[in-house]
Amino acid sequence: MSLDLEKLIHTAQSMVAPGKGILAIDESTGTIKKRFSGVGVESTEETRMDYRSMLLSTPGLGEHISGAILFDETLRQKDADGKPLLNIMKDNGILPGIKVDKGAKDLAGFPGEKVTEGLDGLRERLAEYAELGAVFAKWRAVITIDSDIPSRACLDANAHALARYAALCQEAGLVPIVEPEVLMDGDHDLDTSFDITEAAQKSLFEELYNQNVLLEGCVLKPSMVISGSSAKSRAGVEDVAEATLDCLLNAVPAATAGVVFLSGGQGDEEATAHLDAMNRMGPHPWPLSFSYGRALQQACLKCWAEDPRGNREKAQKILLHRAKMNGKAALGEYNREMES
Ligand code: 13P
Repeated sequence: MSLDLEKLIHTAQSMVAPGKGILAIDESTGTIKKRFSGVGVESTEETRMDYRSMLLSTPGLGEHISGAILFDETLRQKDADGKPLLNIMKDNGILPGIKVDKGAKDLAGFPGEKVTEGLDGLRERLAEYAELGAVFAKWRAVITIDSDIPSRACLDANAHALARYAALCQEAGLVPIVEPEVLMDGDHDLDTSFDITEAAQKSLFEELYNQNVLLEGCVLKPSMVISGSSAKSRAGVEDVAEATLDCLLNAVPAATAGVVFLSGGQGDEEATAHLDAMNRMGPHPWPLSFSYGRALQQACLKCWAEDPRGNREKAQKILLHRAKMNGKAALGEYNREMES
């Protein structure tokens, strides 16, 4: 095997090292503005730097967090002392990753459905990110469940784009995180979530095969199989864990380097409990871990926003705690008593 491929596989394995997961802080400028306004903070280049440098410099975070996914701005930012945020991460033992998609846009001809854009010029952008120090990347596809959707066209268009992106990443020496997110929005039941998630994952792995993507150097970031957020009765922890595993076993080749779930609007402890339950049902063909955005940041962001200067350490402790709980869940060693 070539040295380049060995390096790629090594990076992928480091991302899913036992007891570690990924911190997703790659909110686009629009999304972070929404998150900040929810806690009464104005979103400026400086407040975003202040917040994200606080997260990345959390003492001990690298014990539970293998890597962090950044937005373009963060990858180039320096903290108030002039230290690049990238160096803060490196000193904390956290691998830098970068979101490279350009967002989900309306899919022409299919009302209510999205396709993720960003392939044009991607080879050049990836080369620059690799030069800057990123070792992995992320691309998110968004699948909506409603009465007549998703369409086959939507699933396949998104899978095709994900595979083209993944191949370009590997060419540039970056590990692709492929994220086919089936949204929790809606009142659908667990069986519907299963069927759509399975279809999205099967389409994705067929396209990854078509595009010659090396699965050993690729990480899947799926949504869990879960009841819709407004469903009348919602499936419990064991049922979600079983259905999600059943889906993965049917759709995800064992060669895949690892699986890191998104939280998708689940509560903090709910997301941890689901991951833990799945790992207790192991062993599995792939490491199962987390790549949470909201479920890692929510409580920390709220605390920081109350007093960005004074609450810095307090907020870091909250983040460290959630990272530690999810690290335990990645090993199947979490229980609710550890929360207090
Ligand atoms: P959530 O965990 O908040 O869903 O975010 C993860 C992510 O990176 C979405 O792309």
